[in-house]
Amino acid sequence: MRTIILAAALGLMATSACGPRPESGARQQMKKEPFGQTQDGLPVDLWTLTNKNGVTVSITNYGGIVTALSVPDRTGAFKDVVLGFDALDGYLKGHPYFGAIIGRYGNRIAKGRFTLNGVEYKLAPNNGENHLHGGVRGFDKAVWSAREAPGPDGPALELTYLSKDGEEGYPGNLSVKVVYTLTDNNELRIDYTATTDKDTIVNLTNHSYFNLAGQGEGDILGHEMTIFADKFTPVDAGLIPTGELRSVEGTPFDFRKPVAIGARINDRDQQLEYGGGYDHNFVLSSGGGALAPAARVYEPVSGRVMEVLTTEPGVQFYTGNFLDGTITGKGGKVYRRRYGFCLETQHFPDSPNKPEFPSVVLRPGEEYRTTTVYRFSAQ
Ligand code: GLA
Repeated sequence: MRTIILAAALGLMATSACGPRPESGARQQMKKEPFGQTQDGLPVDLWTLTNKNGVTVSITNYGGIVTALSVPDRTGAFKDVVLGFDALDGYLKGHPYFGAIIGRYGNRIAKGRFTLNGVEYKLAPNNGENHLHGGVRGFDKAVWSAREAPGPDGPALELTYLSKDGEEGYPGNLSVKVVYTLTDNNELRIDYTATTDKDTIVNLTNHSYFNLAGQGEGDILGHEMTIFADKFTPVDAGLIPTGELRSVEGTPFDFRKPVAIGARINDRDQQLEYGGGYDHNFVLSSGGGALAPAARVYEPVSGRVMEVLTTEPGVQFYTGNFLDGTITGKGGKVYRRRYGFCLETQHFPDSPNKPEFPSVVLRPGEEYRTTTVYRFSAQ
């Protein structure tokens, strides 16, 4: 099981400065407002965190969804850079995981089956014959308990959820905590922890779709992407890894130097055909464990930059291939194909059936603990 030295992780962040800060005269604050009711009549709220640079992030305790994230461009002009909806209703109607916390197992498990301690567990096949993102009612649809927990790094929202033994077919009562912190370095830091009372599997992530030009403002093909990975996990037609760790060298998956996302996305390549574009797990060169760079994205028109750091060994790079213009999001913007990209930090897909992949097993007495940072600047 993974353990990280959080102090070292925090130290790393504290020493990495970000770009020039717009003088907005803002001050750190947290605002809470009602966000409506779920189908079961449960009230949910929306918190907006502001840092001293005027960066804001809005998060609801329905699914732990990041609904908005406003960051400056190179001239200091702010735009919301994540896809989503203006009101709860959009999320309740069903959506492709915009901004949500994903669990108990982010990404796919082949045929919804895995064996742990000799017992076979059956999960919902909710993605063709495979299980995706925690099942029919994953953590993205849970109502989380919320507590404002500002700390030395900035305003923070702590979300907790008890996933009961047997929920969606997974064993063990899993007690989960996710803390979103908005730092004055213009970072959204997500700290995930979990404990269990029975052996189980766990793989948590956040499924935000980014467009650094502004949400709904065109496709993301011009963004220049760097992914710090020498290898990726090729998949079959159902997007289940074959088990191979393949070198990115000489393939459209080589993002070791900045390349426009669109430069090779339509190349004739079986892996791109399976994904309808990029929808693949990259094996981070860091190996996971300590907080380390996973990716860097630059949007040349606005100058906005997003760096992703994580303690996880993998990241799913997904280019919004399934968006098709049928969803109208915030401000009436229509989300067409490839209008957003995701960088879902994670353990590798189908790890429960791939003993050669890093383990996703959590046992009683252990603590699951991972951190991912999305850091914004402009150049
Ligand atoms: C993940 C998957 C994609 C897709 C999206 C949601 O990123 O890897 O295949 O299912 O979630 O649409």
